Amino acid sequence: MTDTPPAASVERFRDWRFGLFVHWGLYSLPARHEWVKNRERLTDEDYQPYFDHFEPDLYDPRKWAAAARGAGMKYAVLTTKHHEGFCLWDSEVSDYTVAHTAWGAGKDLVKQFVEACRAEGLGVGFYHSLIDWHHPEFPIDVVHPQRYDEEAQAKAAGRDVQVYADYLHAQTRELLTNYGPIDIMWFDFSYPNRNREDGLPGPGNGKGKDEWRSVELMAMVRELQPDILINDRLDIPGDFVTPEQYQPDGPMERDGVPVLWEACQTLNGSWGYDRDNLDWKSPETLVKMLVDSVSKDGNLLLNVGPTGRGEFDPRALATLADIGEWMRLHERSIRGARPSEYTPPTDARYTQKGNRLYLHLFSWPMGQVHLPGLGGKVKYAQLLNDASEIKRITNDPKQTAQNTRMGGVSPDTLTLKLPIQRPNVEVPVIELFLT
Ligand code: GLC
Repeated sequence: MTDTPPAASVERFRDWRFGLFVHWGLYSLPARHEWVKNRERLTDEDYQPYFDHFEPDLYDPRKWAAAARGAGMKYAVLTTKHHEGFCLWDSEVSDYTVAHTAWGAGKDLVKQFVEACRAEGLGVGFYHSLIDWHHPEFPIDVVHPQRYDEEAQAKAAGRDVQVYADYLHAQTRELLTNYGPIDIMWFDFSYPNRNREDGLPGPGNGKGKDEWRSVELMAMVRELQPDILINDRLDIPGDFVTPEQYQPDGPMERDGVPVLWEACQTLNGSWGYDRDNLDWKSPETLVKMLVDSVSKDGNLLLNVGPTGRGEFDPRALATLADIGEWMRLHERSIRGARPSEYTPPTDARYTQKGNRLYLHLFSWPMGQVHLPGLGGKVKYAQLLNDASEIKRITNDPKQTAQNTRMGGVSPDTLTLKLPIQRPNVEVPVIELFLT
């Protein structure tokens, strides 16, 4: 057993470039963010109606997986259990699971999800929360819903986090034993030193590698699934880092060394279904985030929070379809692409695959675009969406600008002549064939 994943798993993950994150659980019923239990300081009793009324009768993970594939995604990561503690599979070590709900007797939503992903040719990942606001031995700490309830804290004083850690390890073993090959294990999250949101120390400090027994847990994961990739949230280094809800300004590094990375992003700022949220990103913005990630040698894991009926809501489906239409025409500038050594012009990104360099124009220049360092190095250029030629302007570098005559550019700069009309796609791409 090694402490690093097989190179084949790493390269496949890099080639995938684009995946679906799915946050689904009891929190989909209150429909106001997956941290609702924490934010509204709900007790288990307050939260019980969501367990009692969990009835996702329209759940059809084949539709989820088909929507992901249609968007150009190549893998999907499902929350098997989020911080609320509710399990989407029939766990042998818990009765806080879908199988114990009135609707879910005998059901295993994780199994159905895995089968659907495989049927659609998607890689499979499991998100699994380290935090558990329902487990009787999980201490009431600074992120717990009862972090301001001193009476509850007094009652919970004897809780033993190691008993909870045994449960965490047992459930991880179930998940990585019962569903065949799993490609990604996405733990979330550690907070070794953290105070309450009011800045006060609050009950107990955070939790990290000691509380989770992270080294032991990671070793078990690798033993059960030798080809799996493990993320970086166990409070020990993982196989890839996970910038969340921001785009890095360059390739991610650890101690100055480039590291595998995946930006996890939402459609509207919420991971769980958030009915009244209007903060939706446009398809254009999301495509730019995908391109930006790939240009910096990263992946994009884009989240959908299904409803309490088990469906992707119409806006999510429409957004995925718009992204899919862009990917239908531009996939080869993303799939298997890597960063380029060339510096792109303003408000543009390069990705590259062999001798094909892809210029993604985030804004459409008027008439020309100048590409430093590419003078004499491009033998042909075309718009990727319709394969229409883009003419390369050859001009005399000694030429001075005069009225309508553009001044010459340095020999190492390539100038392309652009149509005034911007192509009607989310992000126009010019495919450059290098000599
Ligand atoms: C943060 C949030 C959690 C979400 C995760 C996704 O950890 O607390 O709710 O599942 O980000 O990356």
